[in-house]
Amino acid sequence: MKVLFATSECVPFYKKGGLGDVSHSLPVALSHLGVSTTIALPYFEKVKVKRGDLICLGPLAIDYAGKRELVFVFLTHIPKTTVSVLLFRHPRLSSYDESTFLFFCLCVSAWYRLSALTGNGFDIVHCNDWHMALIPLLLGEQDKTLKKQVKTLQSTAVKTVLTIHNLLYQGVVRASTIRNMGLPMSIFEKIPSPEGGVINLFREGLEHADVVSTVSPSYAKEILTPEFGPHIYDALRKRHDPVVGILNGIDTDVWNPKTDEYLPKNYTKKSVTEGKAVNKERLQKAVGLPVSDDLLFGFVGRIEPRQKGVDLIIKAVRQLPKKSFQVVLLGTGNIKQMKELEHLDGQCTHISYIETFDERLARRIYAGSDVLLVPSKFEPCGLTQMIAMRYGTIPLVRRTGGLADSVEDGETGFVFDDYHVEDLCKIMWKAITLREDDPKKWQAMVTRVMQEDFSWKRSAREYLEVYKKLAPPRRS
Ligand code: ADP
Ligand code: GLC
Repeated sequence: MKVLFATSECVPFYKKGGLGDVSHSLPVALSHLGVSTTIALPYFEKVKVKRGDLICLGPLAIDYAGKRELVFVFLTHIPKTTVSVLLFRHPRLSSYDESTFLFFCLCVSAWYRLSALTGNGFDIVHCNDWHMALIPLLLGEQDKTLKKQVKTLQSTAVKTVLTIHNLLYQGVVRASTIRNMGLPMSIFEKIPSPEGGVINLFREGLEHADVVSTVSPSYAKEILTPEFGPHIYDALRKRHDPVVGILNGIDTDVWNPKTDEYLPKNYTKKSVTEGKAVNKERLQKAVGLPVSDDLLFGFVGRIEPRQKGVDLIIKAVRQLPKKSFQVVLLGTGNIKQMKELEHLDGQCTHISYIETFDERLARRIYAGSDVLLVPSKFEPCGLTQMIAMRYGTIPLVRRTGGLADSVEDGETGFVFDDYHVEDLCKIMWKAITLREDDPKKWQAMVTRVMQEDFSWKRSAREYLEVYKKLAPPRRS
């Protein structure tokens, strides 16, 4: 089974959020099941890769905006694995916007076609989020043209999977932007708008992909409603097959308190109490919090007011009694909300906000906090709650999407239902008092979360089943 995995981010080359983690760890897990996965990623300026680890495969011709452009394709690997990564270099692939990804979709489709022509074809093209959502349509169009021209290619007709990681971002472009791709406008669904008609890239993908999947069973149901799937839910409902919900995993080698190089002290299930105590003290010192045994809440995430629930955290910490807890928050994003966090940090000695993207500090927060806050309005899957559990930190989450599917209230975390500050306060207070009043029960919870298995083993198998149904193994 050969899969071309198209994505806009992939650890360790480029990461903005959880998609970067998944685009690394899922292909690695699939390789352990014998699936040969090749990742396709734009070679952004910020992509980190050593020159010595790159092989230039040569130029690829792409027709765009009436011109023929040459894109250079480089080959590297996910470090310490056999998973290949193709990096596509071109000035049009330098910024993170819609036209970049449209151009990139053309690159991936051209690569697929070239591979098929040279006998190295892929069985599946797995596309991720709106960035790659035009690929199923493009491949379908190419297929139609090619079938007319080259008969032998008929047997290699590609199958596509489109995975929804987040429907908040759908990639809406003007029709004029699409025109540059040289495709007949009649194949796109034009959505009326004040600008005179736009194309929703995600919607196009959902209408053309062979399988649509998403990153948790709960989100698979939620997105069939207008609230979670605006502009999209009807297209999903119209599909003849249901959206497949497969819970993400985490790479348990990458996220491991026993070996994590960034931690002041490594620890295991056995040494978690001492290990976390040292990490907590060092974290408090590093982020300017008083060294104290108060419950330390952590938050690591994008500052996205429409999703991550930071507004609730800001309100809740103002309402709770000051002397009972501390909070450390790490994240960047929305400017207004970052200013509110800075203001809060300036006013309260028990709150610390660090406005940056910092892998090292993120890991120190997972290890040093007692509880990780994930009060999201919606959360397709969420990885931070799983990482927290791996580090013996108890997650406090809202019951939505993948958070609902991965945390059990009272057993492996604290779960609240309604998106209201009172509800968040109540559950934060519950955590504070439980830790003070019943240390044994608290410790049992820490042990339990560390025993949870969020490795990719099961979920990677589920993806393999999806692939096999679409493209049954070829007979040699
Ligand atoms: P999302 O993909 O919606 O951002 P996830 O929970 O799926 O949320 O994944 C977030 C990933 O990004 C995690 O690996 C988390 O550690 C990382 N992350 C988020 N913000 C930061 C930050 N400011 N610094 C370092 N890592 C971060
Ligand atoms: C998205 C979602 C997040 C999910 C991640 C990886 O960014 O917001 O919930 O974990 O993708 O699938």
